[in-house]
Amino acid sequence: MPAHPTSRPYAIEPARAEDLAKLARIERAANALFADAGHPELDVAEVTTLEELAHALAAGLLWVARAGDGEPVGFALVELVGGEPHLEEIDVDPAHGRRGIGRALLAAVLAWARTARHTRVTLTTFRDIEWNAPFYARAGFRELRPEEIGAELAAVVQDEAARGLDPGRRAVMVFDLPRGRVDRELLDEQISYYRARVPEYEEWFFRLGRYDRGEEHRRAWFAEVETLEAALREARPRGRVLELACGTGLWTRRLIPHATELIALDASPEALELNHERLACEKVRYVRADLFQWQPRERFDFVFFGFWLSHVPPARFSAFWETLRAALAPGGRVFFIDNARDPAIAARDHRLPGGDDFVMERVLNDGRRFRVVKVFHEPAELERQLAALGWSGRVQSSGQFFVYGCVAPV
Ligand SMILES: C[S@@+](CC[C@H](N)C(=O)[O-])C[C@H]1O[C@@H](n2cnc3c(N)ncnc32)[C@H](O)[C@@H]1O
Repeated sequence: MPAHPTSRPYAIEPARAEDLAKLARIERAANALFADAGHPELDVAEVTTLEELAHALAAGLLWVARAGDGEPVGFALVELVGGEPHLEEIDVDPAHGRRGIGRALLAAVLAWARTARHTRVTLTTFRDIEWNAPFYARAGFRELRPEEIGAELAAVVQDEAARGLDPGRRAVMVFDLPRGRVDRELLDEQISYYRARVPEYEEWFFRLGRYDRGEEHRRAWFAEVETLEAALREARPRGRVLELACGTGLWTRRLIPHATELIALDASPEALELNHERLACEKVRYVRADLFQWQPRERFDFVFFGFWLSHVPPARFSAFWETLRAALAPGGRVFFIDNARDPAIAARDHRLPGGDDFVMERVLNDGRRFRVVKVFHEPAELERQLAALGWSGRVQSSGQFFVYGCVAPV
């Protein structure tokens, strides 16, 4: 992540392990200012624990402001509340106050939230303190109306009240990042696209037609497919297996030999029919469902999805992983495969979404055009995002074309 410049000689960076023990002093010094500002009820000695800081560091949710000598003089700590970032702390050592460090820490958090395609950043703060609510309002935050405060944020406010903070003086504020949202119409268009694409779907996998990029490319592609197959075998997809967005069966056929029982789910009846016709296996039960509405009623030892995660819009990412958690039996694991961001994965007439955009136009062989969601996940960042949601495991690259991961709830 790039460093965010402040008025020199400060720099904003992701925190390092050696910073953690130095942050309590900064937080205590910053807290002392509240007593002078008419809030003696604040326990200035109460600071974020080392354990909380270490958790945020591991999840990539902690930033520091570093002075020219390398020492931290401020920090910002984010927690995910309902899957969206909540700015839990932003503290600057008063000895370094009034130099734009708070603003720069805030800018770093907002820049990260945008890149990670979150839909908003929230915080709770004092309405009547100049460097609290008015500061955030100037930075583009607005106060949430009571009916906009969901159960998770309400629980944060309740917890603060239990710690002695007067809820009447607290504001719950939000910075909207609307690019993370997609409407239902786009998700329906994505289903329509895959339904219409069934007869030509596998041209993509076998690198034919508009996906043909020559023999050398095909060899490299299938060498990486072998890496994926080996990783899947090693993950031992045994017992009751659930395959989400199974499509025409490219991976269903690879799961069948290992599973005792396999449920294959997709929103496209055409894909399910072709999958069934081809594999004709009694172990497999087919389910037609929309994954943005589906809730598991059974528990599985292994959940697999190939080339599905990239079609989950950022705003639905954490809800999707909550659904997966509910689908797992004790000791169960999730294995997924997806595309890496490489222009050669797409058809020759497709363009990958650039920057933080995630809506992509797809064309069928007959020229029909559809919009789909396409979010490219980078292994290290995805691993961090999953850790923040309570999943552990590894996400890896197979080389050029694919990423894959095997994770379990913590
Ligand atoms: C990129 S394909 C992957 C298919 C298969 N896993 C594979 O690797 O070949 C995406 C699949 O997601 C399915 N799909 C799209 N939207 C869906 C939704 N809302 N719920 C369930 N499946 C959906 C499509 O029908 C399609 O089969």
